[in-house]
Amino acid sequence: MGRYTALILVLVGVCVLAVVLSCRPDTGGDPQAQPIRPVEGVVLFVTGSELGALKPCGCSGGQLGGLSKRRAIFDRVPADKRMIIDTGALVAGTQEQDVIKFRILFEAFRLLDYDMVHLEKPDVEMARNLGLLAEPDTGFELISAQWSDLETSRLRSYSKVLQFKGRKVTINVAAFDAQTDSPAQAAKFFGGRSEDLALNVLLLQNWDSQSRRIWAEESDADCVICQADTDEPQVLSEPGDEPLVFTTGRFGRHIGRLEVDFSESGDRLVWRLEDIPVVETLPEAEPLKRLYRQYQRIVKDSRLLEAYPRVPLPQGLSYVGSAKCASCHEYEYKRWSKKAHADAFATLVRVGSDHDPECVVCHVIGMDRESGFFTAETTPTMKNVGCENCHGPGSEHIRSMGEIAPGTPRMTCLDCHTPEHSSGYAGHESEYLQKIKHWREP
Ligand code: HEC
Ligand code: HEC
Ligand code: HEC
Ligand code: HEC
Repeated sequence: MGRYTALILVLVGVCVLAVVLSCRPDTGGDPQAQPIRPVEGVVLFVTGSELGALKPCGCSGGQLGGLSKRRAIFDRVPADKRMIIDTGALVAGTQEQDVIKFRILFEAFRLLDYDMVHLEKPDVEMARNLGLLAEPDTGFELISAQWSDLETSRLRSYSKVLQFKGRKVTINVAAFDAQTDSPAQAAKFFGGRSEDLALNVLLLQNWDSQSRRIWAEESDADCVICQADTDEPQVLSEPGDEPLVFTTGRFGRHIGRLEVDFSESGDRLVWRLEDIPVVETLPEAEPLKRLYRQYQRIVKDSRLLEAYPRVPLPQGLSYVGSAKCASCHEYEYKRWSKKAHADAFATLVRVGSDHDPECVVCHVIGMDRESGFFTAETTPTMKNVGCENCHGPGSEHIRSMGEIAPGTPRMTCLDCHTPEHSSGYAGHESEYLQKIKHWREP
């Protein structure tokens, strides 16, 4: 509890339920279903754990997330009545594509008017390596509990004063590490603040359920935001319990919206947490759309496709491309040509992701194999989902004039039709199979 403020917690009862419902792919429907309530108080928006998810792939409908759609949610609250923070874990690794995404995320946070971004340990290292910590003005404050000796003057907390109903409310956010710090340090920090009306928010790193409970009890925070370890956001405290403990969920699919207001008597603060799914139908902000196109260009110019690691196929086999099958399997070839698989690469060209290995891998033949897809220019016959994606490499089959049955067993549809990339597949396997029918009836 803040020193001068007895704070009570209003947990929206439906919050957890809303979270569960929103994982259903069909919630993408109607943006109007998102109530746009007038803001009574001030709002703290919380995002985090993007893990490199800049934008949903668009493979199937109803996907949540996308940086360019955050603007529409933030702008439901006037700029002087909101604070926007990110809790960190920007990318998932340290590869070249992760580095590109990291820079793009920094630029996105600036374009989206973030007040503060918290960095986790890998974020700190990447930001340092990229020289981003030396930049005089990123457009937002950076805090972390993981600064190294090279960054001793850097802060682990950030405060913003917001004015409403003629009074000032301070939102204090401070980062602590459950393994290397103590809850007493946090209590001392929050207790040492002198504002009349304050919301004390603790960002807790490296927690487990045991340490989370101790920190919740002893840190004197009003809200504890933990690193997400699930895709969906979660409320970890019991309804009605103080402090409110929650996570944002992963991949930027949801935004936490904490609305802070005065109690009826006016002498203390109350707040409620809402989970806002970033639904497909939200409008995209133009500057962020442009930023994504810039990302696609950088990915292209970095020639990531060419640098992708490739291994040989077993038993000296190689891919030959779908056109080679046409001479002997004219019927099958013609029928395949008319179906979606045969246009899978054009789809990527249409959306500008035809140089992005994260997309190309499922839209071509054998990107991870030496004889498979390399680039659209050098291996045009390997574009699209071809015969060999399912029937295996054809080299020996053709050399033997069909004597040797095509190589490896059929790839399962699930390798590409994952729940994430093909939400309609599971439960409709036979309909999907019917749709790609290119073989003669026996
Ligand atoms: C795990 C494999 C996989 C990856 C990775 C993948 N896709 Fe797809 N994509 C699919 C599948 C499967 C479908 C067809 C889904 C369906 O209709 O059920 C599809 C469909 C699509 C479609 C819709 C095509 C149409 O008919 O309208 C688009 C657009 C698309 N993908 C773009 C992308 C982009 C962009 C990326 C990278 C960000 C990507 N894909 C990465 C497997 C993948
Ligand atoms: C030189 C002619 C020729 C070419 C080129 C050729 N095939 Fe065949 N294929 C055959 C013959 C012959 C058979 C066996 C005849 C039959 O069972 O209908 C066969 C059978 C098959 C079968 C059925 C095997 C089974 O398990 O029953 C598949 C699948 C197949 N081919 C796929 C391919 C694919 C994919 C390609 C291109 C990579 C390809 N073929 C190229 C001649 C060819
Ligand atoms: C190598 C990855 C891959 C494999 C394996 C794969 N698919 Fe696909 N599939 C795709 C992609 C990518 C698309 C989207 C093509 C497009 O429209 O751009 C797609 C699209 C489809 C579509 C069209 C969906 C629509 O709504 O029009 C059907 C149907 C389909 N696949 C069925 C299957 C079946 C059945 C299997 C297994 C026998 C299978 N796929 C295996 C990648 C794959
Ligand atoms: C998305 C996966 C997929 C793609 C792409 C695909 N096939 Fe098939 N193909 C299948 C499946 C699955 C069957 C078997 C259906 C069954 O047995 O019920 C099949 C059946 C066949 C058969 C009949 C023999 C058999 O094993 O039943 C031939 C021949 C064949 N495919 C050739 C081709 C050729 C040539 C191409 C490319 C022009 C191609 N296929 C593309 C999945 C695919």
